[in-house]
Amino acid sequence: MDHNFISVSDFTKEDILSLLHDAAFFEAHPNSRLLEGKVVATLFFEPSTRTRLSFETASNRLGARVIGFSDPASSSTSKGETLKDTIKMVSNYADVIVMRHYLEGAARYASEVTDVPIINAGDGANQHPSQTLLDLYSIWKTQGTLDNLDITMVGDLKYGRTVHSLVQAMSFFSPRFHFIAPQLLRMPNGYRDFCRRHSLPFDEQEEFTEKAINETDILYMTRIQRERFSDPREYEQVKNVYCLKNAMLEGSKPNLRVLHPLPRVNEIAYDVDDNPKAYYFQQAQNGVYARQAIICRMLDIPVGR
Ligand code: CP
Repeated sequence: MDHNFISVSDFTKEDILSLLHDAAFFEAHPNSRLLEGKVVATLFFEPSTRTRLSFETASNRLGARVIGFSDPASSSTSKGETLKDTIKMVSNYADVIVMRHYLEGAARYASEVTDVPIINAGDGANQHPSQTLLDLYSIWKTQGTLDNLDITMVGDLKYGRTVHSLVQAMSFFSPRFHFIAPQLLRMPNGYRDFCRRHSLPFDEQEEFTEKAINETDILYMTRIQRERFSDPREYEQVKNVYCLKNAMLEGSKPNLRVLHPLPRVNEIAYDVDDNPKAYYFQQAQNGVYARQAIICRMLDIPVGR
């Protein structure tokens, strides 16, 4: 792994497993002061609650200082400064840059204009690799393994960068994928081809049934993302297409866990929240440990495990 964290396609299985072990260390020792004297920049050109705040919590707990912005309107981007110049400037101030941007490829581009490590916190509909690490950590913790699991992904599989990253990362662990999406939001060709090339079995359906829920180990719900649609009429067609209700989990496997990168809108009813199989809030908490592991890895700081 180089010193940038841009795309899951850059990682080996060993990279992933070793980061998961580091995340487990940070779960046990969240306040290890491994980043004293370091500055972490968080540049968010798109809205965020979990990713930005968990990166900042991860940094603060490790003793780093955090600079940055959560709204590009408050930065000189609003005066016309280019991404290249912004990255070059912030590189003068920070030891590592965490960046979310609405353009696919923006994080890769940023990594090409600076020697300071870039961590991709989401680039358009492309990738969200730090989310993937916390998703893997959540799956590993709850299932006791990453191997040979049935993973069912539901909702916006077209624009959902979290599911794209997760498909690639899980490819090391012999999963069986089940993709449930309306035709308009099918898993893109590129990722279906990826599954074929890696001999990963997958099926696709439009209907969200209890049978599908009962046969899976992980139910990965996603939000229909209004902000990714160029035609609002298309959003209107699919916006409430699926809603998981507590009663639908009655026949599910004991080990089933419901994951969701969040935020949710209405794809998981509130009556699911108290079901012990609902894991999405703990999943978000795992983000702090996973991001502590990522920042330390990017800065070549050994984790004492
Ligand atoms: N999961 C996720 O990326 O959430 P935020 O958009 O709140 O960061």
